[in-house]
Amino acid sequence: MRKHHDFLAVTDFSREQIIETLALARELKERRHDNLEPTPLKGQTWGLIFHKPSLRTRISFEVGIHELGGSCIYITDKEIELGKRETIADAARVLSRYLGGIMIRTFSHKDVEELAQYADIPIINGLTDLLHPCQIMADILTIYEKLGRYEDFRIAYLGDGNNVTNSWLNLSSLLGFQLVVATSPETMPNAELIKKAKAAGKSDIIITGDPVEAVTGAHVIYTDVWASMGQKEQAAKQAERLRAFQINTELVHKANPDCIVMHCLPAERGKEITDDVIDGPHSVVFDQAENRLHAQKAIMTVLVE
Ligand code: CP
Ligand code: NVA
Repeated sequence: MRKHHDFLAVTDFSREQIIETLALARELKERRHDNLEPTPLKGQTWGLIFHKPSLRTRISFEVGIHELGGSCIYITDKEIELGKRETIADAARVLSRYLGGIMIRTFSHKDVEELAQYADIPIINGLTDLLHPCQIMADILTIYEKLGRYEDFRIAYLGDGNNVTNSWLNLSSLLGFQLVVATSPETMPNAELIKKAKAAGKSDIIITGDPVEAVTGAHVIYTDVWASMGQKEQAAKQAERLRAFQINTELVHKANPDCIVMHCLPAERGKEITDDVIDGPHSVVFDQAENRLHAQKAIMTVLVE
């Protein structure tokens, strides 16, 4: 079995690997369309497994794989019925004989870990209920472009403590910044990941119920949908819990005057973020979406090399 590395969480990479991957992402972004782009996936076919919908992840991976010289197959639950027709372990062993790598978006993080355990090709987490590491790589790339640094900033995450929040907690154990999570007692991020992030001692982790306290002095304000995929039936209850954490103009005015506003998208405009903010001068949401492509091309390159 050949050695390989996976990207199931940002903590699968060391601090140095994160910084190197981001430098490569910046280089690939600059060199895009120069016709001299590297093609490390030449001759490879990747599998893209999706058990949840996607715009950014699917399209940016398909385009990214193509630009790196490879091709890919889009696989939904209907084709392979992962973990149902046969064990995840057997599926992993078989898929490893065909594919150069797999990106998977599904519900259970444990399923992805099991796939990675039995596959001998790189596995990339394209979002689970627990984590969304590719998103956070694009986010920190965007922050670097806008703030000129990977560390020493204050980020206020407002709203549901979800897979995106959890991945920010993971990143805070590798890079040093101040991470303030403002949420309700019912919508806290993963308790174990909060503990780990605090124990790492790299960043300042603050959990608060006060949105104004959170954004005060913030260089970055971040939000995500109040009800994630798989919990949309709880949308009304989640909106009740999180109403006070909406990012609107009044709140943005309480942050640093040149703060940036981020959202991983898709947004539910008028709920977690207002139109005037997402379309306003502080918003960098579309740069963030574009950077998914560059960050993931760098991640795939690092994993196959
Ligand atoms: N941000 C993100 O992952 O978007 P999609 O769900 O559209 O892939
Ligand atoms: N937290 C959101 C992110 C979507 C990209 C979800 O899981 O639905």
